[in-house]
Amino acid sequence: MKQIGSLMNLGVIQNYKKYLPVNKNTPIITMGEGQTPLIKSTNIINSINCSNLYFKFEGCNPTGSFKDRGMVFAIAKALETKSKIIACASTGNTSASAAAYGARFGLKTIVIVPNGKIASGKLAQAIAYGAKIISIDGNFDQGLSIIRELSDDNNVTIVNSINPFRIEGQKTAAFEIIDELGDSPDSLFIPVGNAGNITAYWKGFTEYLKYEKSSKLPILMGYQAEGAAPLVKGEPIEKPETIASAIRIGNPASWESAIAARNESGGLIDSVTDDEILSAYEMLASQEGIFCEPASAASLAGLIKTNLINPQSIKDKTIVCVVTGSGLKEPELAEKQFNSKPINIKPELETVKEAIMNL
Ligand code: F0G
Repeated sequence: MKQIGSLMNLGVIQNYKKYLPVNKNTPIITMGEGQTPLIKSTNIINSINCSNLYFKFEGCNPTGSFKDRGMVFAIAKALETKSKIIACASTGNTSASAAAYGARFGLKTIVIVPNGKIASGKLAQAIAYGAKIISIDGNFDQGLSIIRELSDDNNVTIVNSINPFRIEGQKTAAFEIIDELGDSPDSLFIPVGNAGNITAYWKGFTEYLKYEKSSKLPILMGYQAEGAAPLVKGEPIEKPETIASAIRIGNPASWESAIAARNESGGLIDSVTDDEILSAYEMLASQEGIFCEPASAASLAGLIKTNLINPQSIKDKTIVCVVTGSGLKEPELAEKQFNSKPINIKPELETVKEAIMNL
């Protein structure tokens, strides 16, 4: 019994409460978020010029993305202040996560999503968890500016990453990486959309260094999609476009903190094309068994780009690519993107044998 209990994931608040702004009124709630696998590369490493390569697979969180780490803490704080309603704008994953935690902890959840621009699985999640879904004929940035105005209403708690407790919860991913590796990696490659996550990782890495849990800081390498790369271009993009709908964002809320993370770590925020993203998406699934959503593959796409243009910068280094969400969110894309298709035949042993021989 004791052994079973010791294997239980108590969630990011309980596991890291020493490093979070938890007080006696903060409920220690969880859906088992965090403790996601840090998967060592077995195949892709052979084509990349670094010594250790890992994928932090955040698709293994309860709603299938990294958002759950921040959401659980934002919800705990909303419960602490007796809030009854939570709201967010989202490209899909934040809305799925808010809706799940809202359902579980008795909060009414309002989500604003761009009409026709979120992956079907994410919409299905928000529907299933019972959120009030407002679909706007506009993009994420327009949704977020509406949400910002809603936050003037004290009855509504905003659970986008402009809520600082979201960043607090998400920084635990950096803690887990250090706890597992024994020290910080040399570089962390990460997709960037609204730029909350790169901000959160940097906070986590700098805090753990301060607590002497690590001996160094990593270089942060953030990647936006080429058609939605305001941080690379240095100005907001009015009509962002990319196949990676999760990071189809033209005016990131955490703009300044992302630039600070880049500068302080001596890193880079660059862009990758949709083709580069899709190629990394295929490689992760077919070479490592990691089925992620396209936005999540921007980190590996960035590493592959770096390996081509500046191989010396990663030579002999330990590298972590953050893989932010599950491929199950967008099954239609996989059916379109991969060559492997089911063959349809009669349910007879001989016909099946023949089909196997012809594979
Ligand atoms: N990867 C995935 C799968 C995401 O859903 C997001 C953001 C990002 C990367 C980028 O993270 O915004 O912290 O820089 N999704 C948000 C949403 C915007 O609404 O679900 P970021």
